[in-house]
Amino acid sequence: MEIISDITAMQNRCLSARAAGQTITFVPTMGFLHEGHLSLLREGRKRGDLLVLSIFVNPTQFGQGEDLDRYPRNFERDESLARECGVDLLFYPDVEAMYPAGYATYVTVDGPLTTTLEGACRPTHFRGVTSVVTKLFNIVMPQVALFGRKDFQQLAVISRMTADLNLPIDIVGMPIIREADGLAMSSRNVYLSDSERKQALALSDTLRQAAEMAQNGESEADKILTMAQDRLHAEADLQIDYVKICNAQSLEEVDTIDHESVILLAVSIGKTRLIDNGNLIS
Ligand code: PAF
Repeated sequence: MEIISDITAMQNRCLSARAAGQTITFVPTMGFLHEGHLSLLREGRKRGDLLVLSIFVNPTQFGQGEDLDRYPRNFERDESLARECGVDLLFYPDVEAMYPAGYATYVTVDGPLTTTLEGACRPTHFRGVTSVVTKLFNIVMPQVALFGRKDFQQLAVISRMTADLNLPIDIVGMPIIREADGLAMSSRNVYLSDSERKQALALSDTLRQAAEMAQNGESEADKILTMAQDRLHAEADLQIDYVKICNAQSLEEVDTIDHESVILLAVSIGKTRLIDNGNLIS
């Protein structure tokens, strides 16, 4: 596995791979890898010749007062996990290289896709994500890029951007990977105390109960949302940011459940913000 920090060196390495007819598969991350990331890498390994992982904690997607400074990092561990997953190139740029003095260009996806849900709680978040992902795509030049469905809205926004900008990249969404007890894997889980970790199980439990109601014939979104709010409010340290049932494509809220409905949750437990989501009818 080669580790490259220099942007031009990375572009040249990827250009040579493309010239040699190789398919580049790409997994962009902010590091502190967990099983969710590893599932993307394993799938990426199968889908291409050159597997590229990027690790970059992107400052532009963190709002003021968010956890940029304390975001967990462990490069040595990430490096060894990347080797185990068969990564060929690890791109590890620094902030000054990605955002040099005078940096002034951002890519934005307009409309409800970026202003609802996470966009309503974190107004500058998606602008940071779409800008850095565009930059990474221009540096790595992949044919395939893989993202986890845990960040459901991020996947929708990146798919929209890729289609709108005619980027010749296949965006692959991969299933959420959960701990044995149901908690969706996230780098931020490490912030949770033992008691918060127990309360965090309310998210997957809410999704499970919501799916159960829908499978048993409940078609009114309001009824499922009432159950979800009651279940989440039962936890002492949990604050709800949003609980919504939306169409999986448009992310617009729906009144009646169908096969395209997804329930999305965002909460804070103590100082830790967690998101999760699930289909209602499989
Ligand atoms: O999902 C993430 O880890 C980040 O939002 C991404 C896509 C790597 C962009 O910084």
